[in-house]
Amino acid sequence: MDTVETASDLRTRVAKWRREGARIGFVPTMGNLHNGHFSLVTLCREKTDRVVASVFVNPTQFGPNEDFARYPRTLGKDQEGLASHGCDVLFAPGIEEMYPFGIDAAVRIEVPKIGESLEGAMRPGHFAGVATVVTKLLNLVQPDVAVFGRKDYQQLLVIERLVRDLCLPVDIIGAPTQREADGLAMSSRNQYLSVEERGKAGTIHATLRAMRDALLVGEPLEKIESLACRRLVEAGFVPDYAVLRKREDLGEPSRTSRDGLIALIACRLGKTRLIDNLLL
Ligand code: PAF
Repeated sequence: MDTVETASDLRTRVAKWRREGARIGFVPTMGNLHNGHFSLVTLCREKTDRVVASVFVNPTQFGPNEDFARYPRTLGKDQEGLASHGCDVLFAPGIEEMYPFGIDAAVRIEVPKIGESLEGAMRPGHFAGVATVVTKLLNLVQPDVAVFGRKDYQQLLVIERLVRDLCLPVDIIGAPTQREADGLAMSSRNQYLSVEERGKAGTIHATLRAMRDALLVGEPLEKIESLACRRLVEAGFVPDYAVLRKREDLGEPSRTSRDGLIALIACRLGKTRLIDNLLL
């Protein structure tokens, strides 16, 4: 596997594959890769002839009090893992390559409505940062297929929306969430948890499953949400939300709606913020 740092080196590689008629897949990441990321590479590899991954800790999607500075940078290990999972080229640009006019002067992509609720409301500017960098990366790689994890479900919807609305010629694939034995969704942020916090963290998935079970036996939606919040608080979490939404656009479901829903949780455990979801 080659690692390239500039747009022009990346384009040279991709242009050669295009001339050979290869189908090209892309897995964007912020690095510090784990088996969740590698499952995206494996899925991408199954659907394409050549796979590009990117590692770029994107400053514009972090809020001022978020973990941009301490986000783990582990490029050497990421390279080894990507190579052993069938990635052909890693694109690992610096900030100047991605934001040549500086961050403040950068063109921004906003995705209204779908990007405004839940994570969009809790993390103002986050989805504009994601949408901007993903648009740049898709324009640079010009893949046939790009794979994103369903753990970041709202991010996946934001990206599907921007691709359709900006007529970008790429198929977006949502890949299943990979979980630890106790159900905790794999995430780079799990490593911030203390041993004690890690022992509790499986409660998030258990709460999502309890929301699904309560929905199946016909409990009212508001009761399901408030019981989920209470369960998280009792286990020592500070919930930002524990909600049932329409899976197509994350809109509020009608009181009687039971189909096409998703349960989503965001909560803090100590200093770490975790998110997860379950399609119902
Ligand atoms: O999901 C992520 O890791 C990031 O939000 C992404 C899609 C790589 C954009 O920086």
